Amino acid sequence: MLVSTIGDVVITNDGATIMKELDVQHPAAKMLVEVAKTQDNEVGDGTTTAVVLTGELLDKAEKLLDKDVHPTVIVEGYKKAADKAREILEKLSENIDPNDRAALRQIAMTSMSTKGVSGSKDYLGDIAVDAALQVKETRDGKNKVDVDLVKIVKKHGKSLEETELVRGIVIDKEIAHPQMPKRTNNAKIALLNAKLEIEKTEFDAKININNPDQMKLFLDEEERMLKEMVDDVAKSGANFVFCEKSIDDIALHFLSKKGISAIKNMSSGDMEKLAKATGGKIMASVKDLSADSLGEAKVIEESKIGDDKLTYVRDAKNPMAVTVVLRGGTEHVVDEAERSLHDALCVVRDAIEDAKVVAGGGAPEAETAKQLRDYAVKVGGREQLAIESFAEAMESIPLALAENAGLDPIDVMVDLRAKHENPENRWYGVDVFSGKVKDTKSLNVVEPLRVKIQVVKSATEAASMILRIDDVVASKGTKGPPGPPPGGPGGMGGMPPGGDYD
Ligand SMILES: Nc1ncnc2c1ncn2[C@@H]1O[C@H](COP(=O)(O)OP(=O)(O)OP(=O)(O)O)[C@@H](O)[C@H]1O
Ligand SMILES: [Mg+2]
Repeated sequence: MLVSTIGDVVITNDGATIMKELDVQHPAAKMLVEVAKTQDNEVGDGTTTAVVLTGELLDKAEKLLDKDVHPTVIVEGYKKAADKAREILEKLSENIDPNDRAALRQIAMTSMSTKGVSGSKDYLGDIAVDAALQVKETRDGKNKVDVDLVKIVKKHGKSLEETELVRGIVIDKEIAHPQMPKRTNNAKIALLNAKLEIEKTEFDAKININNPDQMKLFLDEEERMLKEMVDDVAKSGANFVFCEKSIDDIALHFLSKKGISAIKNMSSGDMEKLAKATGGKIMASVKDLSADSLGEAKVIEESKIGDDKLTYVRDAKNPMAVTVVLRGGTEHVVDEAERSLHDALCVVRDAIEDAKVVAGGGAPEAETAKQLRDYAVKVGGREQLAIESFAEAMESIPLALAENAGLDPIDVMVDLRAKHENPENRWYGVDVFSGKVKDTKSLNVVEPLRVKIQVVKSATEAASMILRIDDVVASKGTKGPPGPPPGGPGGMGGMPPGGDYD
C-alpha cells in the first residue's frame, strides 16, 4: 500500500506501479525506476523480475569490485553473459499456435496469478484472450496486436466477475442534451475537433448597446451563427456528433431539434479510437465535414451502469476496437484489476506476436544459470567471474519466489540445481502452492519468451550503466526540479566511492 503525502492510496502488486509511485531521490535508484518503466512499455510484464535482477547484478558486482575486479571487466563479462542468456532462452523456448486459446489462456492466467485479482483469473483471463484475439491483425504475414485498441472503462460496483467485454467502443460520457435521441441506428458519425461555440475575441472589445432592439439583434446574430454551424453538420448527413471541445447550449438545442445526438468534451484518445473503429476522419472545422469524412456504426446507445451513464458504440464499420467494462467491489479493486488486465493483455500480445513461450516459476532462470556456468568455464579469465556472478543473479528469481512462498531458499536452491543437472528437467521451478520443486510447464505456469529476454536486456543495460559511473559530480542543475544538494544529507551518500578506473 503506497500512501502519498496528501493521503492518496494505491494498493498494488504491479512492479511498474510501485516503482513509479515511490518517492525516489537517489539518481542511481531512479535508473531502476526507468528499468521498470522500460520493461512495462516494451513487454508489459516482468517489471518486478527486471528490478530484482538489476539489483542482484549490482550486488554481485560490488562483491567482485571488492575482489579488485575492474568495472570494465565486469561490464564486459555481464554483456557476454546477457548475450549467451538470450541465446539459451531462445533455444529453451517452445512454439505455440497463436490462435490456440487454451495456450494463450494459460499465459494470461500466469501473469494474473501473482496479483490481487488472482481469484478471478479464469474469468479475466478469458476476457484478455478474447480481447487480444479480436484486435489481432495480420500485416506482412506477421501477427500484430495493438493493446491500445482495447479500451478499459472502470466502474466500481458489483464484482470483478461482472466485467463485460463489449465489441465496440464504450465512452464514459452521456449524451449532451436530454432531448437528443438516446439510441441512434445506422449512425453516421461526425468526429469534430472544433468548438461548436461562438469564438471569443482575443482582445477586449466594447459594444455600446443603446436600446433593446440592438440587444436582440446582437443575440439573434449569435444564434444565427450557431444555427449555421449546426446546418453544416446536418448537411454532411451526420446523425451523431462526437466533439473533442465544448458545444454551446443553443447549438445543442438546434442539434436535438434535427434529431442529431452529440457528446461533447471527448478525450483525444477516445476520438482516435473512434476514428479507427468507425472509419471516420477527425475534422478541425464544421465547414470541412462531408459525407466521406463520416464514420459508421450500426448502433449508438446510452446505457446506465450503476449511477453513471455510458455510451456504447456497437458494430462499428471496423470492429477491431473492443472495450472492457471493468467492475469490482471498490475503487482500489478496480484500479488493481485494470493494471492486472493490462499485464495479461500484454503477455497475450507478446505470445501471439512471437508464438514462443517458456515455463515460469523460476525454471528458465535456473536453467539459464546452469548453462551460463558451463559457458563461464569456457570463457575463462576474470570475465569468468563476472559470468558466474551473472548466473548467480539469475538464480535470485527462483530464490525470491521460494522466499515469498515461505519456503527455505537454500533447500529449494539445492534441489533446483540438482534437478537442472539433467537437461530433461529444464522446466523444473518453484511450485509455490505445494512448496516443492516441480515441472512448472506441467503446472501450466507459462510466460512469453519476450518477457524473459527483455528482463535480461534491461537489467544488464541498467546495471552496466551504473557500473560505468566513476564519480558523481555536482552539476548546475538547469534541467528539472531542484533536488537535494549533492553530498549533503539524502544526497549521493550511497554512491560507490569515486575510483581511478576507466
Ligand atoms: N503459479 C505459479 N507458480 C510459480 N511461479 C509462478 C506462478 N505464477 C507466476 N509465477 C512466477 O512469478 C513471477 C512473476 O511474478 P510477478 O508477476 O509478481 O512479477 P513480474 O511479472 O516480474 O512483475 P509485474 O507483474 O509486477 O510486472 C514469474 O517468474 C512467474 O513465472
Ligand atoms: Mg507479472
